[in-house]
Amino acid sequence: MFKDVINFIQDTYKTKEFIPLHEPKFIGNEKKYLNECIDSTFVSSVGRFVNDFEKKMAEYTTAKYAIATSNGTSALHIALLLADVTSNDEVITQSLNFVATCNSISYCNASPIFIDVDKNTMGLSPSALKEFLSNNTSIKNQQCINNKTGKIIKACIPMHTFGHPCRIDEIKDICDNHNIFLIEDAAESVGSFYKDKHTGIYGQLGVMSFNGNKIITAGGGGCIITSDEILAKKAKHLTTTAKTPHKWDFYHDMVGYNYRMPNLNAALLVAQLENLDNFLHEKRKLANIYEEFFHVSDLTFAKEPIESKSNYWLNSIILDNKLKRDKFLNETNSQNIMTRPIWTLMNKLPMFESAQCDDLSNSEWLEQRVVNIPSSIIAL
Ligand SMILES: Cc1ncc(COP(=O)(O)O)c(C=O)c1O
Repeated sequence: MFKDVINFIQDTYKTKEFIPLHEPKFIGNEKKYLNECIDSTFVSSVGRFVNDFEKKMAEYTTAKYAIATSNGTSALHIALLLADVTSNDEVITQSLNFVATCNSISYCNASPIFIDVDKNTMGLSPSALKEFLSNNTSIKNQQCINNKTGKIIKACIPMHTFGHPCRIDEIKDICDNHNIFLIEDAAESVGSFYKDKHTGIYGQLGVMSFNGNKIITAGGGGCIITSDEILAKKAKHLTTTAKTPHKWDFYHDMVGYNYRMPNLNAALLVAQLENLDNFLHEKRKLANIYEEFFHVSDLTFAKEPIESKSNYWLNSIILDNKLKRDKFLNETNSQNIMTRPIWTLMNKLPMFESAQCDDLSNSEWLEQRVVNIPSSIIAL
């Protein structure tokens, strides 16, 4: 049934061997910088590459500060702590999401509230958010209170799905109006821009991931970006075991975390960052090739939303229904082409099934139909 798609993907990647969903590319200074790390013996969480990365990422995104972390999940955890999310608080996010976002809410003993996404961005819907807040909350003592539970809604974490920016400026205005702290999960959207601004800088805090499957990788790594000096200092403090600076004394003034990115990982990442613009160029070329092909087929290619520039991290298509989706997944995977469905909705996972949910029609619709197709860069 999907023979033409299978042939097209095999022709595009010029192989009938296994085609992964997304493999990293190491074409620059990766080995040189890793060797420099080893030769200098600075392989752990102190070293020039961690600082270099933070400086370069801040410059790239135009955030004033970037704080490197061990991965995107630890960055989310710290971001929630900085938003003062504690036991019994609530955090709004999308149910069409990767589990790490919701896990980090649980690390703070808080509960997620799931709101719907927009079909075209696959990210949190500002209209659904606005409606939910006006129908279900009231402001008391400058805090947003959930009328149903009486709990404080402290933060909101929208996500830029597969690199496609959501309508983050509208979400920011709504959060500001309801005194809700905005954390942007930009784990998948390094190199994606919304209205000419990098994703992650609309929120008080933005979070990124440099896992092996991302557009640039540190092997494992993450970061927090912010333009707020106090939050930046606290983020650095919390991720480095809350040790107060001193030449020789060990003094930690609170419970901190060992979440700093090691220099080895940062060395890899600095080399990757040097090639980000090349990667973005090649990703866009591949997305254009797919778009042209799917334009004349009965499958829909998920294009970047208007007013945004996506990094096209993971390309995706939308099938007519779940039956066709499963058929597509079976046929492609049996032909050595790695394809994957979008995530199971978070409210269907055992640890989040009792969470409060708004109407999730778009999330349900997308869950049944969206499939990721191979997205590795071809040239280079
Ligand atoms: C949306 C989203 N949030 C958070 C994460 C967590 O990042 P990490 O795997 O680096 O912990 C990921 C990806 O892995 C992600 O896709």
